[in-house]
Amino acid sequence: MDRYGVIGNPIAHSKSPEIHAQFAAQTGQHMAYERILAPLDAFSQTVRDLMAQGFGGANVTVPFKLEAHTLASTLTERAQAAGAVNTLKFEQGTILGDNTDGVGLVTDITENAGLSLSGKRILLLGAGGAARGVILPLLAKAPGQLVIANRTVAKAEELAAQFESKGHVSPSAFTTLDQPFDLVINATSASLSADVPPVSPTVFGRGALAYDMMYGKAPTVFMRFAAQHGASVRDGLGMLVEQAAESFQLWRGVRPGTAEVFAALRAKL
Ligand code: ATR
Repeated sequence: MDRYGVIGNPIAHSKSPEIHAQFAAQTGQHMAYERILAPLDAFSQTVRDLMAQGFGGANVTVPFKLEAHTLASTLTERAQAAGAVNTLKFEQGTILGDNTDGVGLVTDITENAGLSLSGKRILLLGAGGAARGVILPLLAKAPGQLVIANRTVAKAEELAAQFESKGHVSPSAFTTLDQPFDLVINATSASLSADVPPVSPTVFGRGALAYDMMYGKAPTVFMRFAAQHGASVRDGLGMLVEQAAESFQLWRGVRPGTAEVFAALRAKL
């Protein structure tokens, strides 16, 4: 049987095995998908062991996405731009590194939330790994405007400069933002500590969608703040399912449906 898995540390909490098992059942693919705990200092050895065991590929999660980027023999353009890899495909002893997080976010917004991004004003909050991973897929949808705001402005400036050749990205501080946007994405880790990035409520334009890459049983503080100021809100559970679908397609050449898997995960949160 073809074998895949998700490598992380810790890994016990990962929902990926459940998601991929449902994709496999639905598409009739004969495959196994396991949780793989890699020692913090032995990511590359773990990958080599999987290859030796005949694995077809693996997802990579915290804290190994940067190491996976370094380890890959070939990178997709979106993995190069993201500077991180969440999907490995093993092909005749070589390692292809891809990043499906950004396209997962964009698919969730455009297909599941039904918001077309072409010509839209987008505000991306944060300039860490999570923000960087979604810039290229967002630019691919030809937004009217893409602003990256971060607490440490220099990091937003650095990120905007890195994407100069791919499209126009404007860096900003949180406090100087007052214009309205159609989509505001929270890619900071502030929700983890129940903080809201200090943006003015005027960033939520008429009919705006506020998207938090985090998810949980209850709406995040960012989602509550946005809803109080008239935005529709969405958490990152759909992004999780869509990035998994994209990885599954890369490995198996079949696109699984995501709606039922999403609903099942939501019901269990
Ligand atoms: P990740 O991989 O989740 O993006 P990261 O690379 O450590 O993690 O980046 C965390 C991001 O969240 C950064 O943009 C960080 O802002 P700084 O660059 O100024 O540190 C942002 N962040 C974390 N806590 C925050 C908070 N309480 N308020 C606003 N931004 C916060």
